Amino acid sequence: MNRYKISSNISVVGKRLLNTVTGELYELTAAGLNLVAALNRGEADEKSPLFKRMLAEGVIVRVDEDPRKERFHLQWHLLNGCNLRCRHCYDEKQGSSPLAFEQMLTVTDNFVVFLRKTEFNGELSLTGGEPLLFPRLVELIEYIKSRDVFIALFILTNGTIPFGPELMAALTKHNVGVQISIDGNEAVHDEIRGEGNYQRSLATVKSLIASGVYPMVHYVIMKRNSVVIEEFLADMLAAGVKRINFSNLVPIGPGAKEVALSPEENATVIEKVAVLQQKYPGISMLARRPLWHLAGSTGLCPVGLKTLTIDANGMYMPCRRLPIILGNSRTDTFFKVWFTSEFLQKMREREKYVKVCGKCPKADICGGCRAIAHAVYGDAFAVDPSCLLASKVV
Ligand SMILES: C[S@@+](CC[C@H](N)C(=O)[O-])C[C@H]1O[C@@H](n2cnc3c(N)ncnc32)[C@H](O)[C@@H]1O
Repeated sequence: MNRYKISSNISVVGKRLLNTVTGELYELTAAGLNLVAALNRGEADEKSPLFKRMLAEGVIVRVDEDPRKERFHLQWHLLNGCNLRCRHCYDEKQGSSPLAFEQMLTVTDNFVVFLRKTEFNGELSLTGGEPLLFPRLVELIEYIKSRDVFIALFILTNGTIPFGPELMAALTKHNVGVQISIDGNEAVHDEIRGEGNYQRSLATVKSLIASGVYPMVHYVIMKRNSVVIEEFLADMLAAGVKRINFSNLVPIGPGAKEVALSPEENATVIEKVAVLQQKYPGISMLARRPLWHLAGSTGLCPVGLKTLTIDANGMYMPCRRLPIILGNSRTDTFFKVWFTSEFLQKMREREKYVKVCGKCPKADICGGCRAIAHAVYGDAFAVDPSCLLASKVV
């Protein structure tokens, strides 16, 4: 399989290639036509002189992940409409003014330019609301994957809406990852997410695995589900899940009514997961998030370093759980937001600004969850109130 393709700046018009940016026109010889056809089949000879010339002229571009570059993660909330009303959810589910589809394409192009200029690999999570309710999801996936830079794509879903054949084909064709939310054993999950939804989500997990797509399961730890992790894990193991991603409740929006763990309870749960990880090495479950150094993992909050969010109103935020508006994707480029935001700049110098956590010996691998600090104290630079170590740092 080739790691190259015809640039999306190029239009193939019969036996000609037009560079729509420079206006350059190339007449294709028989060898050129064969090369284009071979590229489309993923079988072009990368050593041929013609291939090398087209690569040098930007007609052919490389689209695989460059292992020397870091990934930049964009979490994109396409809509806030959802078929569920989960008890812990931060999302208000009303009054959003989402981007029009054409604007989404422009935002994608804008992200591509940003990735090229900053030399990041891209990572893009499409979410909501419920992304499977977004009517043009497949079209958007195709558009994102037709761009000239590497973008690893993920869909974050509740797994209660079946993946249709068109979406399944797009997932397989473009190697799109899927994250499904499950927040407990059957009884607790249904208490949080509504009757019957555990079985619906589990059925989706199983059917994806049967089709060769291994979903990651996301579990938000809160008071009511912190004691059923082992039962949940048994079901995940039986279903063949290979990766679980735990995170902590951020008490914001309607979700603020759910109860977060105390620092002691939090440490106990994380340490318990570390023990379970030893017992079941075939399933990965150590989160790369703040505080997970207690389980031997690292999880420096990526805000200001390699992530941005666009919410369901098209607004840039540092993280969906850190509701600070940094700009409007209708009018502001990624470049502008990334390089001019004072908030992001302070996050890059967090050792100077973050109280207590900045002085912690674990600051370089943790630094606390800035979203939880903001949710509890209204200050993203406050101490992370969910951390046991914080009281010991002076
Ligand atoms: C808002 S949902 C959108 C995608 C999809 N509808 C789903 O349920 O996965 C994305 C993720 O955010 C998590 N989430 C929602 N509210 C949260 C909160 N207050 N704190 C932490 N995570 C939260 C959900 O559990 C879910 O895993």
